[in-house]
Amino acid sequence: MRTDTPQPVRLSDYRPFPFQIETTALAFQLEPAATRVRATLAIRRSGAAAEPLFLHGERLKLISAAIDGEVLGANQYSLDGEGLTIHQVPDAFTLTTEVEIDPSANKALMGLYISGGRFCTQCEAEGFRTITFFPDRPDVLSRYTVRIEADQRFAHLLSNGNLVESGELDDGRHFAVWNDPFPKPAYLFALVAGELDVLEDRFTTMSGREVALKVFVDPGQAPRAAYALDSLKRAMKWDEEAFGREYDLDLFMIVAVRDFNFGAMENKGLNIFNSSLLLAAPETATDQDYERIESVVAHEYFHNWTGNRITCRDWFQLCLKEGLTVFRDQSFSADMRGEAVQRIKDVKALRARQFAEDAGPLAHPVRPSSYLKIDNFYTATIYEKGAELIRMLKTLLGAEIFRQSLDLYFARHDGEATTVEAFIACFADASGRDMGDFFTWYEQAGTPTVSLAHAYDEAAQALEITLAQSTAPTPGQSNKQALPIPVTIGLLDVEGQALRDSEVVLLDGPSKTVRWDGVAKTPVISALRGFSAPVNLSTDARPADRYIQFAADADLFNRWEAGQTLARALILGRTAGVPDEVGEERYADALGRALVDDASDPAFKALLLPLPSEGDLSLAVDPVDPAAIHAARDHLKARIAVHLGDLLRRLHGDLQGDGEFSPDARAAGRRALRNGCCDLLAADPHAVNVDRVVGHFQSAANMTDAMGGLSALVQIGGPPAEEALAAFHARWREEPLVLDKWFAVQARDPGEGAIGRILALTAHPDFDAGNPNRLRALVQGFSSGNPAQFHDESGAGYRFLADQILAVDGFNPMTAARLVEPLGGWRRYIPALGERMREQLQRIAGHAGLSKNVLELVSRALD
Ligand code: TRP
Ligand code: ZN
Repeated sequence: MRTDTPQPVRLSDYRPFPFQIETTALAFQLEPAATRVRATLAIRRSGAAAEPLFLHGERLKLISAAIDGEVLGANQYSLDGEGLTIHQVPDAFTLTTEVEIDPSANKALMGLYISGGRFCTQCEAEGFRTITFFPDRPDVLSRYTVRIEADQRFAHLLSNGNLVESGELDDGRHFAVWNDPFPKPAYLFALVAGELDVLEDRFTTMSGREVALKVFVDPGQAPRAAYALDSLKRAMKWDEEAFGREYDLDLFMIVAVRDFNFGAMENKGLNIFNSSLLLAAPETATDQDYERIESVVAHEYFHNWTGNRITCRDWFQLCLKEGLTVFRDQSFSADMRGEAVQRIKDVKALRARQFAEDAGPLAHPVRPSSYLKIDNFYTATIYEKGAELIRMLKTLLGAEIFRQSLDLYFARHDGEATTVEAFIACFADASGRDMGDFFTWYEQAGTPTVSLAHAYDEAAQALEITLAQSTAPTPGQSNKQALPIPVTIGLLDVEGQALRDSEVVLLDGPSKTVRWDGVAKTPVISALRGFSAPVNLSTDARPADRYIQFAADADLFNRWEAGQTLARALILGRTAGVPDEVGEERYADALGRALVDDASDPAFKALLLPLPSEGDLSLAVDPVDPAAIHAARDHLKARIAVHLGDLLRRLHGDLQGDGEFSPDARAAGRRALRNGCCDLLAADPHAVNVDRVVGHFQSAANMTDAMGGLSALVQIGGPPAEEALAAFHARWREEPLVLDKWFAVQARDPGEGAIGRILALTAHPDFDAGNPNRLRALVQGFSSGNPAQFHDESGAGYRFLADQILAVDGFNPMTAARLVEPLGGWRRYIPALGERMREQLQRIAGHAGLSKNVLELVSRALD
């Protein structure tokens, strides 16, 4: 363990690698505890003559190294914890290295490891260096040939590209040779070996090329891969139509693994997925799972162009591939499932994760300028805010120029490792506009606040709208510049009829006033339609205006937003000691009317039901008192449940499915609405409602309804919840993905004594902190999904989280670090809580042998 202070990596220190790795031949002798990796690299100098050759390498046992066949003597190289330096090398040569590694001991799940008895890899961002010595940086592209040898019980031997040869060897072993014709950075390398079942299909590309599609899963699970495969074909077609992007190999493979740090990985031609994002059957997966499978399958596939064909010069450019690819998968999902509904869900996620990040000590720009561990920057800011920036480019330039700009990007940078500057230059060149201002969005952290004030002159039929922006300081950035903010605005009249169509007003300085003439009636202003920019909007609208929008705004995003804004004001009014009982009734009435509006679809109505989350509400107050927020939110929820009881029970009955399950958006929307009714009814737990919720759970014919019922019962608590949890466990004990849900639903238990029950679950025989899905179900489910209990005044929730972080950091630093965030916001909480959160952060920081990953986050949180 290093004792010196780790040095940050800085964007300004970027230097090109002084060599090209023209080809890379890898030969694997797979053995669980002692795998041999021989690498043969054809290297040519491209930088200064005297430069030594440095190759990354960590936890590798060097067996031998040779240049052009000459074994290197000990004085010709040096080896440290970060890699191998060969002091003098010719201008063109072949380097051969052989190393030994131990995949069976790899619990960090980075590099080559074993999951469910199979070999698999995860190399992004810096895992390849634990497999072999190599320049493990995204700007070093090489052509790979991979030979895999293993015992035949590892029946499938897979790597990137096309299979060129395979066969049997002596001693019960066999081999396969793969060649990937596309030069790629090391982080896109992948290898899988093991017993797998495969589901196969074909896709014909727009130019008529045949592609074989193969999804590999645990033996017996192939039928559960059908939805992922179907999603893949739709994504391939969509990318051709929406972006003109065609697939480029003859084979596309996806493998599901149970132990995986993230969701999925876009390795060239061989995507690897967390099994939770691939396997689905109606009995075991919820509609939300289906939706995520569809979007993540698309996301990883879309990376083939935005990430693989065009990759990042360095890891500071991460948003170049991630923000753009998230934007692409969001657009795909919008086309599959409805634009407004998708937009609302995306904005909810953005606010829950990214706005929270921006409001705390871990705030960072979409393109950061320094880091300790790049693993810590796979954040909502890079991904989700990154996608918002792309969306704004489309809004600002229009769909046509946006598409032309991307066409230019693909044409100009195909095969390169490039930068955000080069990307933005394509937009400037295609549009003929100066995009200099826009770049500030990439470099400035924080969520801007936009305020809107208006003045209407009835006699002159003139409306003046004044917009102003400000951004609060974030760590390391005290002075904020004005950003170019597209604010889409439309007008309604007080009857809710459209008065003026949407127009994009560009707020391109600290403030701006626009004057619209010919506004014949008193307007209701519908601003930031479709959430046209990732900002907080505050306006001079009165509640009456919001009710008009809630009932009739033609922009469905803003219709939903109006309801949320009204609810937020009611809940926070109560926490501030100014409850508004009349307003609460009025809100419930308006919600009731929206629920019976035949013109809107069930999926949209389902989004109207949930009140703003506790996390969302906590972003709007300072300091945060989670218990008060929880109580006030519960109060409003119960009021609505009482007020709309008859309607909710009627809807719940009417929406009952007819048994035939379809995962499509329409059917899922009806289930979402029905489960939303069930959730609300649980907030008014008299005998009739409790019976109904129990009935909902017991008669569930699919996992969506089962989970809807179970989570409503956990909300109610007591014997009905205990019985349901026991029955659920008994039925699903052999299904890991379903058991994850069983842990997660209990993590969100809001009842008295919940912390004790959650703590006890860590000792349950099915709990396994070594599996990230299981760990996150319980620990993150609790720390992020159950704010009132997590912030229990005893501090027990904080202690529990800190204990888990320290335990997991011992073997999986990347996943441990991702648990730190809920403690990071300690400054925003009431002092009694904030102080206890800080104590736990300090306790973690003082721990001997802490990983760089966790150290970086706790130090930033404490700074
Ligand atoms: N690039 C992947 C994606 O966005 C995510 C990813 C990055 C990842 N690092 C990882 C996945 C480490 C697993 C483990 O699709
Ligand atoms: Zn991605």
